[in-house]
Amino acid sequence: MNKEKDIVILGIESSCDDTSASVIKNGYLLSNIIAGQKVHELYGGVVPELASRAHQQNIIPVVDQAIKQAGVKNEDITAIAFTRGPGLLGSLLVGTSFTKGFSLATGAPMIEINHLQAHVLAHFIQEYDQPYDPPKFPFICLLVSGGNSQIILVKDYLDMEVIGQTIDDAAGEAFDKCAKVMGLPYPGGPFVDKLAKEGNPDAFQFSKPRIANFDYSFSGLKTSFLYFLRDRLKENENFIEERKADLCASLQKTIIDILLDKLVKAAKETGIKEISVAGGVSANSGLRNALIETAAKRHWKMHIPKFAFTTDNAAMIAMTGHYKYLKGEFIGMDAVPFARMDIRV
Ligand code: KG4
Repeated sequence: MNKEKDIVILGIESSCDDTSASVIKNGYLLSNIIAGQKVHELYGGVVPELASRAHQQNIIPVVDQAIKQAGVKNEDITAIAFTRGPGLLGSLLVGTSFTKGFSLATGAPMIEINHLQAHVLAHFIQEYDQPYDPPKFPFICLLVSGGNSQIILVKDYLDMEVIGQTIDDAAGEAFDKCAKVMGLPYPGGPFVDKLAKEGNPDAFQFSKPRIANFDYSFSGLKTSFLYFLRDRLKENENFIEERKADLCASLQKTIIDILLDKLVKAAKETGIKEISVAGGVSANSGLRNALIETAAKRHWKMHIPKFAFTTDNAAMIAMTGHYKYLKGEFIGMDAVPFARMDIRV
């Protein structure tokens, strides 16, 4: 392809506790560097001020590595896409400020990205020498992360509608908060997943919400889990240690049942059989298996992204930037980050 026509997008992600940079050229992934932040493990949750400081330390080396690994130069970058929200304000500010500096220095225009929209578009990241079979529009995306649980009707790359969402906690929070009560490290989701493999999912029953439409609620489950443990611990102080695998398996099954119940309902009522999943919780092996089984039973075409593209990453930001670039959607130097942001922005 003629060099002038190459579209090279640098993506920057800093919405929570991962600093990430990625380069996508003509829709193909060249690099995706992610620096996590171990500092939060000590506190059992993300500490916003520490996250912001860690982003400041990480951003330049992460971007430098992404550009080098991609084999491009700063002047080759056509546009720079950054997460504007939703997320932690102090964290978002680092990515936004870096983007402005980079844009001023190189002349590459800035593209604002909605983090949730980017999670959905992670399905469209193309890799050299890898199969590529993205969802066809319209499709339904179950977006499950540490901060969100949503059912999204995706009509086009940049045309999405949230048709269901949590009214309180997100699915990832349910995993993490219940894991914390069991004394597991933060974030607890992956630990619950691992322990659940050795436990009996039908050992214990926890409460499931009765919520209208396609909405979710996970706070009742969290409370029911907490009270259940409190009562059992009165009888046996080693209860958690002795039954940890069964507790994890039963908790995981309950979360998966809640998620699938509304997803099935949404698929039925919209008549859509092209279904996808996105966000950190989609790394959960039990959820993946349940989705594959449900898809086979209900004749869905199921799309599950690679692990690397489910948790926070800049490849999905650069990919969304690519589509916004094609539509000429740029933003000026007065852009400020937003802690909350509607998926349509
Ligand atoms: O999308 P994500 O990386 O970022 C945030 O929204 O913060 O999602 C992180 C969430 C955490 O709650 C984490 O516990 C959960 O995804 N998670 C998992 C697994 N891997 C990550 N939950 C259950 N099972 C997993 N294997």
